Amino acid sequence: MKVLFLNGPNLNLLGTREPGIYGNLTLADIESKVRVEAAKLKAEVEFRQSNIEGELVTWIQQARGVFNAIVLNAAAYTHTSIAIRDAIAAAGVPTVEIHLSNVHARESFRHDSLIAPVCRGVIGGFGVNSYVLGLIAAVSDIECGK
Ligand code: DQA
Repeated sequence: MKVLFLNGPNLNLLGTREPGIYGNLTLADIESKVRVEAAKLKAEVEFRQSNIEGELVTWIQQARGVFNAIVLNAAAYTHTSIAIRDAIAAAGVPTVEIHLSNVHARESFRHDSLIAPVCRGVIGGFGVNSYVLGLIAAVSDIECGK
């Protein structure tokens, strides 16, 4: 069971980026917490982050046949990227959309997700736990589909 965590733009700044919204943990801290849960679930995880839309698209394409699932925090690209949506649909790797913040409680431009329709489901608003819950959702989804 291999799960790829992809993180979009500005998530490399976690820890110092708007802590009132995103908390004080860095992306490395979040990865550590996910790895604790992954060990319990006997899942292998890989974490990547990019500020570049095309790089995320390439990683999604390359996940086919390599990873069983993707957990994706596309950050601002969630609300803008047809290219990421198309990559998810094309790759056919079950994908869970996640967000640290509750995007529905924020500005209206964050209420729409272009990627949600091609994802298995969406988890948001639980801070670091959105990542842990994303892993649990991905693993249980794969196991149900077997
Ligand atoms: C985010 C929410 C997005 O609207 C925002 O652009 C982000 C982070 C989240 O994790 O809450 O960069 O995806």
